[in-house]
Amino acid sequence: MSFTADRLILFGATGDLAQRMLLPSLCALDADELIHPDLKIIGTARSEMDDAGFRDFARKALEKYLPADRRGGMADFLNRLSYQPLDATTLEGYEELAEKAGRTGNGLAIFLSTAPSLFEPTIAGLKHAGLTTGDVRIGLEKPLGVDLESSREINDAVASAFSEDRIYRIDHYLGKETVQNLLALRFANILFEPIWNSNYIDHVQITVGETVGLESRVAYYDDSGALRDMVQNHMLQLLALVCMEPPTSFDATAIRDEKVKVLRALRRVAEGETVTGQYRAGAVSGEAVPGYDDELGKDSDTETFVAIKAHVDNWRWKGVPFYLRTGKRLPKRITEIVVQFRQIPYSIFDGRGAKTQPNRLVIGIQPRENVHLALMAKMPGLDRQGIRLRSVPLDISLPDAFKGPHRRIAYERLLLDLIEGDQTLFVRRDEVEAQWEWIDAIRARWAEEGSEPKEYTAGSWGPSAAIALAERDGVTWHE
Ligand code: BG6
Repeated sequence: MSFTADRLILFGATGDLAQRMLLPSLCALDADELIHPDLKIIGTARSEMDDAGFRDFARKALEKYLPADRRGGMADFLNRLSYQPLDATTLEGYEELAEKAGRTGNGLAIFLSTAPSLFEPTIAGLKHAGLTTGDVRIGLEKPLGVDLESSREINDAVASAFSEDRIYRIDHYLGKETVQNLLALRFANILFEPIWNSNYIDHVQITVGETVGLESRVAYYDDSGALRDMVQNHMLQLLALVCMEPPTSFDATAIRDEKVKVLRALRRVAEGETVTGQYRAGAVSGEAVPGYDDELGKDSDTETFVAIKAHVDNWRWKGVPFYLRTGKRLPKRITEIVVQFRQIPYSIFDGRGAKTQPNRLVIGIQPRENVHLALMAKMPGLDRQGIRLRSVPLDISLPDAFKGPHRRIAYERLLLDLIEGDQTLFVRRDEVEAQWEWIDAIRARWAEEGSEPKEYTAGSWGPSAAIALAERDGVTWHE
């Protein structure tokens, strides 16, 4: 399985993701000589175009989405590209695609970045053209279904042609350097692991805030909503990395085995443990923006915000709430994990009038990439009126600590791992299914309760009920 692919077929090659992420990532890898000199990239989509047309299309995407200083060697990169138009829903055309990809070489990797409804016919077409045999690998972009049942259908269809060790399910958050750094923080330091449990941790917050609204993804987003778009995948993967037991090695099976245990230990949410919201007109970053209904052009009860109080039922995390929240049109783009430690058991400073605050670790995933630990320190002085203590930050900015290396696009890492055959940062079927099981139960509860999203003003941190969700436990969201 450890071959390096020298042919990569991109389905959905003219789509938004290909333009914004996939082509720029491949070009950036090429500029740094990280992909094999012989790698051929074959784009395919419904649009009629020839090779030259696709190269021109790709050049425009690169000029738009890849910073100029990472475009060195763009002309050589474009020469790797070819294109085969294809209606993925019919078997015709797959033979030509196979011819275009060539039948010999080191090996083939396929990447599907298409609507989920096309997954099954695409697998049928690939089988028909003999593109699934041997050790061909397949990468799958989300969404992989809309619930457990549809995700099983897709997974079954893919499994009918590819064994699990050849399936690479993308969660692009796992390609982010700062997300991978969670593993280093936890398992390359002795400091945190002994206190990484309910004896020392009071609660954890995970926030993924976005300032954007619907963008151009009207139909997809309105059918999906924040729970399925962000929590089912990215946020649950973050939670799994925070909660997992130490794996025995840095390898795909060991890491994914530990993550899936966490996902399976998620307790079904109870009444009152979720809040949903939908944004109304407001202002984000000083600019007036319309409400969701206006952007959509119709009424909708899709949630653009969700906050959840989650629990992981195992020895390590018993009694520690995990507050998750994500939404569109929030005041800032931010992804962070806050680990709030407990108060010290006894303070020697009480008698001297000084209060202590519990330690807090804030892991900034984006846009700030940092690790911030709030520690108590004594304020300088002669202490005639008593000792004064204050919380001071120990703040490590990762870009400052590592000035040399590029900040890479998450897809650079993931595409390279797909080409080279490393599944560690891809999501295994049992993980996806455990994620859906928990999400489906939340949606079933919403349906049973007939709950509707509460309004919030664009540019705010969601409905006030989300603040109350934490405040009633004496917890304040970190802002
Ligand atoms: C995608 C969601 O998976 O992640 C989008 O479909 C969201 O709605 C995006 O905007 C956020 O990704 P990032 O990397 O910008 O945090």
